[in-house]
Amino acid sequence: MAQEVRGVIAPGKNEPVRVETIVVPDPGPGEAVVRVQACGVCHTDLHYKQGGITDEFPFLLGHEAAGVVESVGEGVTDVAPGDFVILNWRAVCGQCRACLRGRPWYCFDTHNARQKMTLTDGTELSPALGIGAFAEKTLVAAGQCTKVDPDVSPAVAGLLGCGVMAGIGAAINTGNVSRGDSVAVIGCGGVGDAAIAGAYLAGAGKIIAVDIDDRKLETARTMGATHTVNSKDTDPVEAVRELTGGFGADVVIEAVGRPETYRQAFYARDLAGTVVLVGVPTPEMKLELPLLDVFGRGGALKSSWYGDCLPSRDFPMLIDLHRQGRLPLEKFVTETIQLDEVEKAFERMHHGDVLRSVVVL
Ligand code: APR
Ligand code: ZN
Ligand code: ZN
Repeated sequence: MAQEVRGVIAPGKNEPVRVETIVVPDPGPGEAVVRVQACGVCHTDLHYKQGGITDEFPFLLGHEAAGVVESVGEGVTDVAPGDFVILNWRAVCGQCRACLRGRPWYCFDTHNARQKMTLTDGTELSPALGIGAFAEKTLVAAGQCTKVDPDVSPAVAGLLGCGVMAGIGAAINTGNVSRGDSVAVIGCGGVGDAAIAGAYLAGAGKIIAVDIDDRKLETARTMGATHTVNSKDTDPVEAVRELTGGFGADVVIEAVGRPETYRQAFYARDLAGTVVLVGVPTPEMKLELPLLDVFGRGGALKSSWYGDCLPSRDFPMLIDLHRQGRLPLEKFVTETIQLDEVEKAFERMHHGDVLRSVVVL
């Protein structure tokens, strides 16, 4: 029997989001229905609402979520009703060219649920990132459910579903930060702070936080930054070089997504160092760099989608490290809110007041 639950939809371009009744079908083959317990508010949800991702309105927003599996469809063996799971948007297919080469974290054909959730009048909803978790329940592909230790608060666990995983993964997976490395992180919002926490976890020797907002730099220190640079008053390239014996950092993580900050990252890195771009640019942005510098400085220029994470490998591990007190995920939850407060949370996010507002259900 399909169920009716409450969920937050974006009805049309730039229209305010609102709570509506959502019809959630029973899980079909390979699908699961999850009772959502917490879901963080991410920039991508706002981009959906603004029509910046696709124009397939109405959207069912929300995608950084944790909850309990309520029911599963035919053929589902990896998760069972009652399992505490984090939802992911990288349910790997096992068959695409990336998966077949043993690199499933790049999977090019990830799964979502086949059936559609709808409004009560039958209008089909597009779930954000194939998840749609600002809702009491949601229908996903079973592979989007990653079981983790239930002894952690859902508001904290759900963070790993998107932005915080992207940041941690930018450091530990894409950037391969290792013990003793010097790391600079440009942009210290939720993603940049997670990169700092990831670099700290990986044993970086020096972690330099760069931002234009002193409040953000203060928070960055609590995540493990050893030095901070306000790039509004100080040239960040000079500052990072000065702090690294005149050379630049081994790994520089760009967590803003703009050409000028990418350029800073490019030049703030040591010879043969690594730049990781985890900030998401907009379509009109262009980057110009002397090609001779690209060649002559060597090293690696990498992008990090979703922190190059493999949910089945990374989520349980990071939850365990959190439980051991080695990863302060709880610091990313600035406030917990209700379903009908998502619009307000977008405002606060826009003003840079929060790392994460998390809807708890
Ligand atoms: N130089 C340095 N820092 C900057 C600059 C700049 N020119 N412009 C903005 N920032 C800082 C802001 O002060 C803020 O602390 O970058 C941070 C951005 O943080 P958030 O807005 O909270 O964004 P976040 O959730 O961290 O995401 C960052 O990653 O996933 C992508 O779409 C996301 O592109 C965005 C980026
Ligand atoms: Zn694949
Ligand atoms: Zn997100």
